[in-house]
Amino acid sequence: MKTPAFQHLLVTGGCGFIGANFIRHLLDETDFAGRVINVDKLTYAANPLSLAAVAEKFPERYVFVRADIADRAALARVFDDYAVDAVCHFAAESHVDRSIVRPDDFIQTNILGTYTLLQLARERLPRIKRFHHVSTDEVFGSLGATGFFTETTPYSPNSPYSASKAASDHLVRAFHETYRLPVTVSNCSNNYGPLQFPEKLIPLMILNALEGQPLPVYGDGRNVRDWLFVTDHCTAVWRILCDGADGATYNVGGRNEMENLAVVNAICALVDELAAPLPGGKSRRDLITFVKDRPGHDRRYAIDCAKIERELGWRPAKSFATGLRRTVQWYLDNAAWVRQVRSGDYQRWIAAHYGA
Ligand code: NAD
Ligand code: DAU
Repeated sequence: MKTPAFQHLLVTGGCGFIGANFIRHLLDETDFAGRVINVDKLTYAANPLSLAAVAEKFPERYVFVRADIADRAALARVFDDYAVDAVCHFAAESHVDRSIVRPDDFIQTNILGTYTLLQLARERLPRIKRFHHVSTDEVFGSLGATGFFTETTPYSPNSPYSASKAASDHLVRAFHETYRLPVTVSNCSNNYGPLQFPEKLIPLMILNALEGQPLPVYGDGRNVRDWLFVTDHCTAVWRILCDGADGATYNVGGRNEMENLAVVNAICALVDELAAPLPGGKSRRDLITFVKDRPGHDRRYAIDCAKIERELGWRPAKSFATGLRRTVQWYLDNAAWVRQVRSGDYQRWIAAHYGA
């Protein structure tokens, strides 16, 4: 891997699930010697506790700024005060179900927020050496029983979330074509692992199973997702930041397609094995409850990640069996993190530490 051409990396959304895993990976596991400036608005999905150890261990190399990426003046200060020379853009509203109920924040953050960052970056050329945009396979829409998404699959987003991500991808591409901003884009499949807010399928099912609550499976439970352990996504993003070609997009996936019901059954078996038994010795599988389907529910996602494998030598390192076991164990071991991210106290804690 090449030595990165930048030293002052702005990471947006670094207090969220993937962003926090990425910053931990970057500072603890790579030979990057520069500084990370984490800009996060601290929405409900953020947890600065995820980076408390990093902040303590790397006081010179890790900076946190609470700001909204759509706040041009605040972000301009960040770019200039910290001499930002590269951007890794994770910040987004990320949950499909929330986008169906109330799309407003998705339009504001995912589209206008990305546009604000792009403008600030292009105004600082040639200082900006890389602008990496983290996106999703959901921009491609839904597959039938066969086939895979490649980098050339036409966009066909079906939810307000995926439409907002598609819009941001197009803006990023346009800033490369029009202004020669050195962008890269990754479109990744479903991530799972430690630090994920428990509204997404895997952490929600782990915690409900632990607590003996119903496990709500949408529709017939036969929808297919391609699951990737979060640190494998982080290694892919880091490779693209260092070695990706200007203007290129890369699909990232786990080659690990599973029906939702199979994922939930695997979680039930692990929670039965690793946690205290339910009263009466019931299996967690008995908690599975089929509920009304998600409107516009995409049937199947599957990523062809041959390009990043071939061109950048990236491969996922974790099997689903190992990654899921590690994830279940992490949620069992981190009850305080879960309590905080779920409680109203959390918002008060943020206000006390970082201002309202
Ligand atoms: P997340 O919801 O866990 O975290 C998002 C973070 O962004 C939070 O810390 C939040 O406070 C911050 N944020 C939101 N709006 C902001 C704003 N206006 N200004 C500054 N910060 C803001 O999301 P995630 O699952 O970590 O996803 C990160 C990125 O990866 C997103 O762009 C998402 O589209 C993409 N992605 C996610 C997955 C997945 O499976 N989770 C898969 C592929 C791509
Ligand atoms: O594919 C990448 C995308 O994966 C990311 O871009 C999104 O940010 C991320 O949230 C994720 O989107 P999904 O909609 O696929 O993830 P979610 O965890 O919400 O749902 C996974 C599958 O499980 C989906 O088919 C819906 C189903 N589901 C979800 C929940 C929350 C259920 O059956 N029951 C549930 O309670």
